[in-house]
Amino acid sequence: MEKIIALAKRRGFVYPSSAIYGGLANSYDYGPLGAELLKNLRDVWWQYFVHRREDIVGLDTQILQRPEVWVASGHVSAFVDPVVEDKVTHKRYRADHLIEDWFEKNKQEKINAGNLSLEQMAELIKKHNIKSPDGNEVTDPKRFNLLFETSIGVVEGSKSIVYLRGETAQGIFINFKNVLDSTRVKLPFGIAQIGKAFRNEVTTGQFVFRTLEFEQMEIEYFFNPDNDWRQYYDELKDYYYKFLTKIIQLSEKKLRWRLHSDEERSHYSKMTEDLEFQFSFGFKELLGYAYRTDYDLSAHLKHSNVDLSYTDPETNKKFIPHVIEPSIGLNRLFLAVLENAYLQDSENDRVVLRLPFVIAPYKLAVFPLLANKPDLLAKARQIYQVVSQKYHCYWDDRGNIGKRYRYQDEIGTPYCVTVDFQSLQDNTVTVRDRDSMKQIRLSADKIISFIETENENSSK
Ligand code: GAP
Repeated sequence: MEKIIALAKRRGFVYPSSAIYGGLANSYDYGPLGAELLKNLRDVWWQYFVHRREDIVGLDTQILQRPEVWVASGHVSAFVDPVVEDKVTHKRYRADHLIEDWFEKNKQEKINAGNLSLEQMAELIKKHNIKSPDGNEVTDPKRFNLLFETSIGVVEGSKSIVYLRGETAQGIFINFKNVLDSTRVKLPFGIAQIGKAFRNEVTTGQFVFRTLEFEQMEIEYFFNPDNDWRQYYDELKDYYYKFLTKIIQLSEKKLRWRLHSDEERSHYSKMTEDLEFQFSFGFKELLGYAYRTDYDLSAHLKHSNVDLSYTDPETNKKFIPHVIEPSIGLNRLFLAVLENAYLQDSENDRVVLRLPFVIAPYKLAVFPLLANKPDLLAKARQIYQVVSQKYHCYWDDRGNIGKRYRYQDEIGTPYCVTVDFQSLQDNTVTVRDRDSMKQIRLSADKIISFIETENENSSK
């Protein structure tokens, strides 16, 4: 993890946020390469789920909504974490995480403390004399709401509280009727959204895994509850798994499904599974996959008095659709992608990010073999200008060629094109493959078609 954090900072993927003022816990900014990687992940996700499927449409809703949305959804009352406070430093910690860490460290036992009641957690903390990470006593656990509050209104006294959305899903539910009325969708169909969500997280130190502000990519897939829910559940689950393993190319060895127990499941769900990824700090949730039933639409119907039912065009039967929800954090996926791609290749004395072509920040780099030869520079520039019309392309004429290759390996650029003296004679260049380090020579006019052929099965 330290190596990945260092690489992310050194090469401009991720910076600690507000660093010049001492930093802000659980907040990160994304540098030029991080911004590209995030954008590519968003784009391939949208293309795979929204553009490639006839039955899923997109949506883009507000971060601030009427507070009633969060009352109806249950977040105001139930979106809580058990939190303890260090009696000396007054820093706050997740009680369940503190207990789990203590058991792992002292008993070499992996337990799931998320299922325990506040009283059970308090008992364990007392029994084992569990202290804060600073070694101080902690208070009894209390419920702490994760929703961030802010207020609308400029005149003192006339402000009203609103919440920053804790998940993007509610924007989908409250627009369900709008989508039905304004498009030609028919059940079963899904609505997808990518956007920021905010949670007042107290656990620190997990890099971009858990942050105050993050992006979610969520789908609500609506269907008629008279039909077998399992069929929709399994189809979308398989389709999603293919996205993560075939398009994003996460290693299957690092993925596993974990079924939530009754106690652990969220207030809205009838069945939830997490797809866990093996991060450097253990298997942790990457994707939440939940059968949310009609919980949300029914709750909004009840609180708003607006009819959110669906009428079957064939049978004229009216009902509230049920929903299956895959929800993934874009930033968590970003971290999984970095961990999955990172390779310390000691044999070749290099670090390489084996990012799939579709998400790599730069698809290729173009170099003149020597920077001080005007003929080579001009020829390389000319080639760069052509290929950069098609692909995001890196230009580099500094340092020696070996250093340039190492730099591109570290930022995950799949191909390096070098223009040398032979290029001036016969218009050929060398193309070096990042992973195999093999070089081939081909005509400069064939660079684009070569790359296209090599990657034709990916979903660029
Ligand atoms: N709409 C359902 C929902 O929000 P969740 O399991 O609370 O379910 C879904 O969140 C996904 O969002 C998680 O699997 C994770 O990838 C991401 N996520 C949740 N909290 C996060 C945080 N504080 N920082 C980064 N990602 C987060």
